[in-house]
Amino acid sequence: MAVPTPHISAQVGDFAETVLMPGDPLRSKFIAETFLEDAVLVNNVRGVQGYTGYYKGKRVSVMASGMGQPAIGIYSYELFNFYGVKNIIRVGSCGSIDKDLHARDIIVAQGACTNGNYAAQYELPGTFCPIASYELLEKAVAECRKSGVNFKVGNLFSSDMFYDDADSAMKWAKMGVLGIEMESAALYCNAARAGKNALCICTVSDSFIYPEENTTAEERQTSFTKMMEIALEIA
Ligand code: HPA
Repeated sequence: MAVPTPHISAQVGDFAETVLMPGDPLRSKFIAETFLEDAVLVNNVRGVQGYTGYYKGKRVSVMASGMGQPAIGIYSYELFNFYGVKNIIRVGSCGSIDKDLHARDIIVAQGACTNGNYAAQYELPGTFCPIASYELLEKAVAECRKSGVNFKVGNLFSSDMFYDDADSAMKWAKMGVLGIEMESAALYCNAARAGKNALCICTVSDSFIYPEENTTAEERQTSFTKMMEIALEIA
């Protein structure tokens, strides 16, 4: 596939080896403006802002994924397979279904269950288990411990539905799943297939157990700096 792609207007070499990937394009801009030096806008197709700059002297990129597995499926596929990106660290938000986790706590996603069909494309004779890169996971755990944040490592549930009539959240909670979001399983599938590395770190934006703690959209955009610093430290 030739670059630019239909979704990314950058040239080969415009992205660093490691890309931080929030869902929200405004959060991508926030990370670039707050943490990166000499950040250059390398993509803005559909307003999906991508920047490359330097964090503590290391070249790092940040680009949004949009919402849902099809969206992160496109962007992570193109970055891994056409732009030479080696590591993608999703920095997202999730709903907690675990009683030990409150708003602003962090989940490091060791694995991602899903109700989506993304892995069907591989025509495997069974069920694929989407997991994080152990190397990135280990580094993220060390950074979380250093930062003193309340965090847990475990399974996420990547749902294709935000509004879910099946009321599935607490069924996944019974399996020890910690939180619900909409992207990690497809990201982990793409990394596995490309022989690359992926990790998802999520800040709890809302809790199914403690609904009174839910954060606002504005807080979600700006108050998740701890998670971003953790991701940048391991980049
Ligand atoms: N469901 C799905 N995705 C989410 C949620 C949720 O409750 N919270 C944040 N992202």
